[in-house]
Amino acid sequence: MYVLGIETSCDETGVAIYHAQYGLISHYLYSQVDMHSEYGGVVPELASRDHIRKLVPLIRQALQESRLNSNDINGIAYTAGPGLMGALLVGAATARSLAWAWQIPAIAVHHMEGHLLAPMLEANPPTLPFVALLISGGHTLLVQVEDIGAYRLLGESLDDAAGEAFDKTAKMLGLGYPGGAKLSALAGHGKPKYKFPRPMTDRPGLDFSFSGLKTFALNTLSASEKTEQDKADIAAAFQNAVADTLAIKCKRALQQTGLKKLVVAGGVSANQQIRAALTEMTAKEHADIYFPRLEFCTDNGAMIAYAGCQRLLAGQHQGLEIIARPRWLISELPGC
Ligand code: KG4
Ligand code: ZN
Repeated sequence: MYVLGIETSCDETGVAIYHAQYGLISHYLYSQVDMHSEYGGVVPELASRDHIRKLVPLIRQALQESRLNSNDINGIAYTAGPGLMGALLVGAATARSLAWAWQIPAIAVHHMEGHLLAPMLEANPPTLPFVALLISGGHTLLVQVEDIGAYRLLGESLDDAAGEAFDKTAKMLGLGYPGGAKLSALAGHGKPKYKFPRPMTDRPGLDFSFSGLKTFALNTLSASEKTEQDKADIAAAFQNAVADTLAIKCKRALQQTGLKKLVVAGGVSANQQIRAALTEMTAKEHADIYFPRLEFCTDNGAMIAYAGCQRLLAGQHQGLEIIARPRWLISELPGC
């Protein structure tokens, strides 16, 4: 069974083909980052227009280079939400229309389920059940995963998502958009001069709050001489605080659920220091940890093709409607 996957929820156009037995056949990504960086953030209308320009050529390329034609494809999975409405609609309308023309099912995939399942594309995938930490630009979620579709929300960010906090702090430090990876590079030159708080770790619970760290960074910057070294020191202190906070909460989640497997995914899971802090924590807890490869931490079509294939294998797909849900809770998904 071949499934074509389409991702257009934000600023990356992703297309991939996944086969139920042979695995990932091909994947293609066009990033709009250069276009949006001029504006210091994603401009939704420009994102939609660029998805329109890039999506169909990428689908054609994916089929041609995989030596497949439309007759070989058994289903089309598309990101139906959460995300930017206009951007979602491009992928949803294209996927649904192609599925109608090719007389095959269309599968509306939840973007965060895609991230959650991305480590399944690796050589040593986790077995169920596990705890998943999803850290992206729009969401920070701790989820108990009993099965595909059986997601119990353990905790979430009450304000900024982890990636959002990285991006806002990076902007404040004069780095471009998106700032996560740039802040991380700058932090590499930082010295351990400042100690930032570990928000919401002094009380029970698994929710997060990252917006205070951004303010703490701003206040620290204002009180400093604003040299390059000061900025690097602040970046390092910020990154340390996020990594430590995530490790404390994940440790709690593992202890609370009694599970010994942690899956970490979403754009921020590309961060090397966060990976190191979580790996160290899981080793102490005698638990295993799983990450997607770096290119599948951030948005991509492969994770959508994979998630859609699992849903289709379970007999699930949608009718003729075009589904785009900017807001959509992962806990609302049906089981497989
Ligand atoms: O998952 P993703 O591609 O998109 C959403 O679903 O939101 O995540 C993008 C986020 C951005 O906030 C970006 O700054 C952050 O992931 N990010 C990083 C790193 N690479 C990407 N944050 C920290 N360190 C990184 N190396
Ligand atoms: Zn994402």
